[in-house]
Amino acid sequence: MTRLDRVEQTRGRFTGPPLTPRTAVIWSVLAAELDRRPGDELTVLDVGGGTGGFAVPLAQAGHRVTVVDASPDALAALTRRAAEAGVADRVRAVQGDGDAMAGLVEPAGADLVLCHSVLEVVDDPAPVVAALATALRPGGAASVLVAGRAAAVLGRAMNGHLDVAAALAAAPDGSAGPRDTLRRRFDADGAAALLRAAGLTVEEIHGVRVLADLLPAAVADGQPGALVELERALAARSPYRDLAAQLHLFARRPA
Ligand SMILES: C[S@@+](CC[C@H](N)C(=O)[O-])C[C@H]1O[C@@H](n2cnc3c(N)ncnc32)[C@H](O)[C@@H]1O
Repeated sequence: MTRLDRVEQTRGRFTGPPLTPRTAVIWSVLAAELDRRPGDELTVLDVGGGTGGFAVPLAQAGHRVTVVDASPDALAALTRRAAEAGVADRVRAVQGDGDAMAGLVEPAGADLVLCHSVLEVVDDPAPVVAALATALRPGGAASVLVAGRAAAVLGRAMNGHLDVAAALAAAPDGSAGPRDTLRRRFDADGAAALLRAAGLTVEEIHGVRVLADLLPAAVADGQPGALVELERALAARSPYRDLAAQLHLFARRPA
């Protein structure tokens, strides 16, 4: 039985948002972590948390969430969203850089740190990972989501952009150059090495959106439940995991 199967059996304790192919696997992993301390109010830090797609549901589940983000517009949207959800008192919006969080957040104060879709856009991911590791209390967990390189190579090739696919496959950072929207993409080993270099122990790696971006919209929209289940079934299995559009790493600061 996989960890995701066990989560499914205990679902109901954590009432997160409706599961989608983009979020189901991540919420399953997070739910398992939250279920380790049922009833506790956890201190959560969301680095580059944007408009609060994860922060607000976590606050609704009873946790205290600080979102550090570089964008004032994103933080304004987060603040509105938290107010509309009735959790403004549990969500703190802080403008700042993910690699300069000293003074913004307490060191070793977070039970859970999220860093989703950020490491591929920052100047240098290593200081951001070091900062999030510093923010974690010993024994605390990190949820890190990064763009996958293999899916980008296959996607560009299938759309006929063989030159871009070749550039993405060959570039050490998995970026197609200055016109690419992302500065880098990762494979599972490279992303895990980045977290280990900051002293974190990588416990799980899942693929997110193994299939979701490949299917015709009519299929994805017509069978959403089946797609979520298939994404969950394939997320931890090779070779599907490594072909996913995103890789989700769950890591822990040693106690
Ligand atoms: C693609 S969005 C992801 C938002 C959210 N984590 C999610 O998964 O929906 C990237 C976010 O990272 C923020 N960001 C980019 N560079 C940053 C940095 N150096 N420090 C903090 N936040 C940053 C952006 O403002 C944006 O809100």
